[in-house]
Amino acid sequence: MEKDIIEKVLVSKEEIAEICRRLGKEITADYEGKNPLVVCVLKGSSVFMSDLVREIDCECEIDFMSVSSYSGTKTTGQVAFKKDLDINPEGRHILIVEDILDSGLTLSYLKNVILGRNVASVKICTFLDKPSNRKADITADYVGKVIPDEFVVGYGLDYNEKFRNLSYVGVLSPKVYSE
Ligand code: IMP
Ligand code: MG
Repeated sequence: MEKDIIEKVLVSKEEIAEICRRLGKEITADYEGKNPLVVCVLKGSSVFMSDLVREIDCECEIDFMSVSSYSGTKTTGQVAFKKDLDINPEGRHILIVEDILDSGLTLSYLKNVILGRNVASVKICTFLDKPSNRKADITADYVGKVIPDEFVVGYGLDYNEKFRNLSYVGVLSPKVYSE
């Protein structure tokens, strides 16, 4: 299956492990003693989140949120809130974990919602960053890898809910979405 749908591998399994180790160390150094609330943005970042938190070597808590701004391969610009946090974020240091920062519309919406809740701080950790496609004024505090403006799948990232289970990140063959 993979040969037909993946044009090239962009982030290998080995590189993913290195990225998680590096980010885990940075986050540990910055959040030691702060008991951050690490927020996974469903569903895309669930795979990255589970690797990342195991590289964070300080006390932290995790929670999940769900918003959506995507349908197919194009950003719609509309963000819908589907699931809120279970843990009260008031007074907490919040670290939002995302799979990919693309137009930035999703994260700027989320960051504003969380900033309005009396939190101690909000930072963003994204596995992938596609800065060339940015539409909102937002940057991530921790970036796994900067990639060109190509549609990628795998390691949590989907195309119409498929391919999240690939253990690497690959560029989706355009023939998959032109079919
Ligand atoms: P943004 O609001 O445009 O930054 O979109 C962020 C969301 O769009 C991410 O959480 C992903 O779910 C999705 N997304 C953006 N680029 C890609 C991609 O190349 N492949 C798969 N999903 C993507
Ligand atoms: Mg997504």
